[in-house]
Amino acid sequence: MVHIIDGNAVAALLKEDLKSKIDTLRDSGITPGLATVLMSEDPASKTYVSMKQRDCEELGMNATDIVLDPTSSPEELHSTLDTLNSDPDIHGYLVQMPIPSHIPEQEFLFHIDPLKDVDGFHPENVGLLVSGNPRYKPCTPHGIQKLLESINVDPSGKDIVIVGRSNIVGKPLANLLLQKSPGGNATVTLCHSRTHNLANKTREADIVIAAIGVPEFITGSMLSDGAIVIDVGVNRVEDDSEKGYRLAGDVEFDSASKKAKAITPVPGGVGPMTRAMLMYNTIHAASLQSNIPL
Ligand code: GUN
Repeated sequence: MVHIIDGNAVAALLKEDLKSKIDTLRDSGITPGLATVLMSEDPASKTYVSMKQRDCEELGMNATDIVLDPTSSPEELHSTLDTLNSDPDIHGYLVQMPIPSHIPEQEFLFHIDPLKDVDGFHPENVGLLVSGNPRYKPCTPHGIQKLLESINVDPSGKDIVIVGRSNIVGKPLANLLLQKSPGGNATVTLCHSRTHNLANKTREADIVIAAIGVPEFITGSMLSDGAIVIDVGVNRVEDDSEKGYRLAGDVEFDSASKKAKAITPVPGGVGPMTRAMLMYNTIHAASLQSNIPL
């Protein structure tokens, strides 16, 4: 029988652990504070941001919600980030991606104070990760590492195929899983839209991680018997339900779950872990900025 990995349950345990760290900070007069910057009308982005704020409230952390008009200039975004950088009550913040195409991504990333960059997207933090000394591990990759740990799967020596090379998931995840440290030491193959013979590669993998943004792209026939399957995709697929859409992952769940030993569902797999690791990074940021070790 396939094991369906319950991301909500693993995230709840992690958040329980975080409460004592928040108490330690609060005893010294520090309440961790996270700000979110939303610059999009995309309903999915709005939902993600409100879920992050709810997590903060649940843990007794401060949440600040900044909404910028999607037509705002790069300078307006930069000035918002400068204000967040100098606010001592904000320990971490993120700009919800994707951002409008008129905002040059590399420019705004340089405006983020690297100590407040709880996404781990600032080039300094990317460099620290790649060189094996991460300050903040990017939330989705770190959440996936924790999910594997929760089912006692050690990546060391395993063949892991990641499908998708984004800066948010694929690239940082490949780096994390490669590291010479616990939760790493895997042999990682990073595949993408130009990869030849993709199914031959996924069929060789002990662990397949789908982060390509195409609904139900990975099917059971692309997997070996007993593979571990992690589905990062959250795609809205139109249907004739009341909502007008259903959520689908990047993996075709029915066929994949007949082959896999363990698989994450969508929703309820990777998503809650991403948010738990964001809380973890914000608490870590508050600790670094206030010199209170946890
Ligand atoms: N959009 C999708 N995933 C993420 C994430 O982890 N961080 C940010 N800032 N935006 C996202």
